[in-house]
Amino acid sequence: MNYEFLKNNKIIPVAVFNNIDEVLDKSTALLNGGISAIEVTFRTDCAKDAIKLLTEKLPNMFVGAGTVLNRKQAIDAINAGAKFIVSPGISYEVIDVCKEKDIPYIPGVITPTEITEAINLGFNILKFFPSEAFGGIKTLKNLAPVFPQVKFLPTGGINYDNAKEYLDKPFIVAIGGSWMMKGNKFEIEKLTKEAVSLIK
Ligand code: 3PG
Repeated sequence: MNYEFLKNNKIIPVAVFNNIDEVLDKSTALLNGGISAIEVTFRTDCAKDAIKLLTEKLPNMFVGAGTVLNRKQAIDAINAGAKFIVSPGISYEVIDVCKEKDIPYIPGVITPTEITEAINLGFNILKFFPSEAFGGIKTLKNLAPVFPQVKFLPTGGINYDNAKEYLDKPFIVAIGGSWMMKGNKFEIEKLTKEAVSLIK
């Protein structure tokens, strides 16, 4: 599993598309704003079609799937073109599919027990979700020294105002969130540019 894409994608928008018609406009706005990776969540029915559409029409966008909970969703996502898979927790079914297809998988954790389990399953890039509700950077500062082999991808409650304190830390590989996905394409482009300014 190759996680190279995280080197150049420090902010990964979490997209919940309710309608296939909004996918290209909103994703183009992300590209125009300077972000070229997206996590399309399997919380809505059009997730698979959205990934397929983005893969076909926006080749410059690195498209992954989020909120992937089971084998079927993982297979659907990968068949549609997803280049990485994220879960809110640890899914053994999803691990199996991603290992078989050699697609990078980022399982979700919060507690030391979950982090231990993920490490023992062979993962050291872990989603920390829902970050802000579970203490955010303060909690991560306590977990990081105990698990030096882990790099975290925090999401949940991150926004323009608190993103910088995450991005600065050596134990953070990248951050994710939906805050720049709010509004129409013009607003998304503006919010994306603001977000990108944090990493320059
Ligand atoms: C996720 O799946 O990572 C979260 O929905 C992102 O959280 P946010 O919507 O609070 O940014």
